[in-house]
Amino acid sequence: MKRIPLVIANWKMHGQIEWMQHYIHEFVKASGTPGQSEIVLCPPFVYLQQLKVLLRETEVGLGAQNLHDSEQGAFTGEVSAPMLKELGCSYVVVGHSERRRLFGETDAAVAAKFAAARLYSLVPILCVGENEAERAAGITERVVQRQLDAVLQSCGIDVFAGAVIAYEPVWAIGTGVTATPAQAQAVHGFIRNYIASLSPSSASSMRVLYGGSVRASNVAELAQEPDVDGALVGGASLVAKEFLAICAGFNK
Ligand code: 13P
Repeated sequence: MKRIPLVIANWKMHGQIEWMQHYIHEFVKASGTPGQSEIVLCPPFVYLQQLKVLLRETEVGLGAQNLHDSEQGAFTGEVSAPMLKELGCSYVVVGHSERRRLFGETDAAVAAKFAAARLYSLVPILCVGENEAERAAGITERVVQRQLDAVLQSCGIDVFAGAVIAYEPVWAIGTGVTATPAQAQAVHGFIRNYIASLSPSSASSMRVLYGGSVRASNVAELAQEPDVDGALVGGASLVAKEFLAICAGFNK
């Protein structure tokens, strides 16, 4: 099955209104001919509305970086799936390692967020990946499988049809150390085969993105791997031209 490459900018807690206006101007000016990849920008919550307006005339999609699993309620500081939907989001990042590590999100919490996103027709971008010690201990696949199983157990296999999974080795995030294409392909292949063992059609339709120090300079070799269907980009997505070059790296 042919999968359209998906390249997502995770701006994390970066950006201000003026910066964003300039970024989108640069992005639209430079993008010229439409590429073959689907492109999505995930700004901080507070800029979603403004970014939606800025992206009005473009094909670029909108995503959020997190959500709460309840529809509404007394959850100070939180944002729900229907709110994101109303703001025009199509995607939402779920279970980013920074949320797991810095904000204590458990596998079960991530699974609940995944389910809430699906309920409101948002596509969850499920982040999985091992840390340095886990890789050194040779348990990368076990860790990734555990993270997938949490979602499988609470949501079932069907949710993986058309899903987006981002393999983000924690040791590669923001470090400038990128997984080698072979390392990325090994885990991406593992993820696809694991899902295929439960549902071949879901496995062939889902997109598995790589994240962790993706740059314009290393995207081409990653994009050549058969199970790398796109990228989830942090730092390098903050520079419009660099991010565009990364998107172009997935044009076949
Ligand atoms: P960097 O691209 O800055 O390594 O971040 C990756 C990431 O965490 C994207 O979600």
